[in-house]
Amino acid sequence: MKNNIDLSGFSKLNYIERLNKLQSEQILSESDVHYLMSGGLQTFDLGEKFVENLIGYFQIPMGVATNFYIDGQHYIIPMAVEETSIIAAASKTAKWVREHGEIKTEVIGTDIIGQIQFAKVKNFAAFEEQVLRQKEYLVGLVNKEVAYGMVERGGGVSRITVRELKRDDGFSMAVVHVYMNPCDAMGANVINQVCEFLKAPLEEFTAERVTMCILSNLVDSKLTKATVTINNIDLDLAYKIEEASRFAELDAYRAATNNKGVLNGIDPILIATGNDWRAVEAGVHAYAAREGRYSSITKWRVIGTKLVGELIAPIVVGTVGGVTALHPTAKMSLRMMNIKNAEHLSRVVASVGLVQNLGALKALTTVGIIEGHMKLHVKNLSLGAGATEKEMPFVVKKLEEILTLRKRISMSHAIEVLNDFRNKSSNLNP
Ligand code: MEV
Repeated sequence: MKNNIDLSGFSKLNYIERLNKLQSEQILSESDVHYLMSGGLQTFDLGEKFVENLIGYFQIPMGVATNFYIDGQHYIIPMAVEETSIIAAASKTAKWVREHGEIKTEVIGTDIIGQIQFAKVKNFAAFEEQVLRQKEYLVGLVNKEVAYGMVERGGGVSRITVRELKRDDGFSMAVVHVYMNPCDAMGANVINQVCEFLKAPLEEFTAERVTMCILSNLVDSKLTKATVTINNIDLDLAYKIEEASRFAELDAYRAATNNKGVLNGIDPILIATGNDWRAVEAGVHAYAAREGRYSSITKWRVIGTKLVGELIAPIVVGTVGGVTALHPTAKMSLRMMNIKNAEHLSRVVASVGLVQNLGALKALTTVGIIEGHMKLHVKNLSLGAGATEKEMPFVVKKLEEILTLRKRISMSHAIEVLNDFRNKSSNLNP
């Protein structure tokens, strides 16, 4: 893929022109274009492998966000999403960032977490001592017997810790945490097998009973950080964005919506690349509440003449195994972004989430969200009201006028405008 992608005017192109443009920019191959034009996945064999009782596929629109320049590399971001204006807002904001600032990313930590629960232990101190005494042996054993594939790739189980949870009946619950570097896999299957395997030796060493074991989606031991800087920004705008950020940091009601906006950028890439977006969502929300109060996962501050934003969250994704490796659209999406490994993907995902958040905060503190949202929605309302291809330009134009005038628009407006147009047309051509 080239490093100076020129997609100016991309949104004005029609469907075929868009595909041709992406092919000429070497983002899509000839066979990708053929695959997309034929409607994507056609056979049911693959679906049968993923789910039970398959009856078909649910087609979500997939578009590309343009203008992303992350850590000195250009990206065209595939996004599978049904909500109008997300891709447009991401592309527009990414352009602003590219022209006036930068996006930098890093991954902090390598390990995912598995949990083994001992619901009620007789003596927590004795339990802890036993586990910690055996921890080196257990790590070696499980790496040899279960996680050897990870070890070969430079990962594997790294450590075991013990936590005490105080029960309301006065007893202690003990939880063993198992940390593992899953390399480029999301690692869910392996960490679950690791925990299952450790059950027997842990029960033997501690003389306690395991209740259950499963991975944790709150992966605070592997966090992805994205930082967006806008240089020489209009300070009035910058302070408005900072205040909007403070609102989400302080108030859970606002934080939920703020984080939803961040996930507007994150989920569509996870879907396009075949990743488990429910796992990432759960992790992001749990991390947002890590201090005992649900808060924002992004933070914007004015620093001198700059606006600096930061997102830190567990974004555990995979680039090998599962749907990612099997679904042709997922494989194509990874190729489009030239993704090298799981960390690379998580850094791109975090960047898009943060840029999406910036776009939303900028709109909310200036023109408001209705304008961008509804302008794009006008077309959908016109279609929903039943406008034909011929009637569309008139209905869209009229609805845009109403929107500018009244600052709101609904399906009843669309129906009214369409009926009016039809009445006028029938009067002209009785
Ligand atoms: C809408 O899908 C997302 C926003 O509500 C996000 C936000 O309020 O920050 C606009």
